[in-house]
Amino acid sequence: MTGGPHPMTPAPYRVRSRRPDRADTVTLTLEPVRGDCPPFRPGQFTMLYAPGVGEIAVSISGRARSGGYTQTIRAVGAVSAALCGKRPGDVVGLRGPYGQGWGLRAAAGLDVVVAAGGLGLAPLRPVVRALLRDRPGYGRVSVIAGSRAPGLLLFRRDLACWARQGADVRVIVDHPDHTWRGPVGLVTGLIDRVVFEPRRTYAFVCGPEAMMRKTAAELVRRGVAPGRVELSLERNMKCAVARCGHCQFGPLFVCEDGPVLPYDRVAPMLAVAEL
Ligand SMILES: Cc1cc2nc3c(=O)[nH]c(=O)nc-3n(C[C@H](O)[C@H](O)[C@H](O)COP(=O)(O)OP(=O)(O)OC[C@H]3O[C@@H](n4cnc5c(N)ncnc54)[C@H](O)[C@@H]3O)c2cc1C
Ligand code: FES
Repeated sequence: MTGGPHPMTPAPYRVRSRRPDRADTVTLTLEPVRGDCPPFRPGQFTMLYAPGVGEIAVSISGRARSGGYTQTIRAVGAVSAALCGKRPGDVVGLRGPYGQGWGLRAAAGLDVVVAAGGLGLAPLRPVVRALLRDRPGYGRVSVIAGSRAPGLLLFRRDLACWARQGADVRVIVDHPDHTWRGPVGLVTGLIDRVVFEPRRTYAFVCGPEAMMRKTAAELVRRGVAPGRVELSLERNMKCAVARCGHCQFGPLFVCEDGPVLPYDRVAPMLAVAEL
């Protein structure tokens, strides 16, 4: 017998801090009980295990100053609610990071449009940080974010900070309240408001699938090459290592081939309902 844990065994991670972002969403900072966090690429995800409840895929939304991962979780069912309920000091299980990240290298030297819908801003947050850390390495950086309502907007402080760092940051909401003075509508309504040179543009898009389909189609209509529009797909995941088939999407395993995939590879499959 060889030693060491099985690769599918979650490692214990301690919750260092918990920040409620909105009524149903929290950001946890997780640190390994032993050793260091493995490096991750923006766009990758981990499998988080709530002991006794179950395991789900969650994107890495950043690296904390302490070195741990930050992960932003919305309570939609048993496992996500159990994870959202964790407090500092509690221990959860973590496997990963897994999957293909955003194509930062392919975007070098080009204008970059980052488009997020709702919680889709979580996996995009580390890519925006990376773009702004290497400002001379890219052209114009535009961040467009859509939220159902002003009170549901995530990462407000980050958005303000990115604007100070030189990104063109714009937010749109579906349902304004009496405080809202900004634009109203879908994320696609912001594409015309940001400046980019379509033939020299790369785009990173994450949000509900309908939002990604519409945003990608609009960017392509404006002249961005379909292979330069990347989407982060969500499919039901179990193993996360291309063994079980739960995340199969046509010929692709989203856990290993994705979750970040170019629009030209996935557009035909996205057009098929319920695939
Ligand atoms: C690559 C990847 C990255 C992800 N990153 C994140 C992340 O950063 N943060 C995060 O909160 N979630 C993320 N998810 C989604 C997360 O994995 C699911 O929300 C989770 O599996 C739900 O499990 P559950 O047991 O809590 O709920 P379930 O019991 O599985 O579902 C409860 C109900 O919620 C619905 N539901 C399930 N998933 C979603 C969803 N994504 N959106 C809306 N309704 C849903 C189900 O249809 C069902 O009706 C990611 C998924 C993938 C594949
Ligand atoms: S989650 Fe098992 S093959 Fe992708």
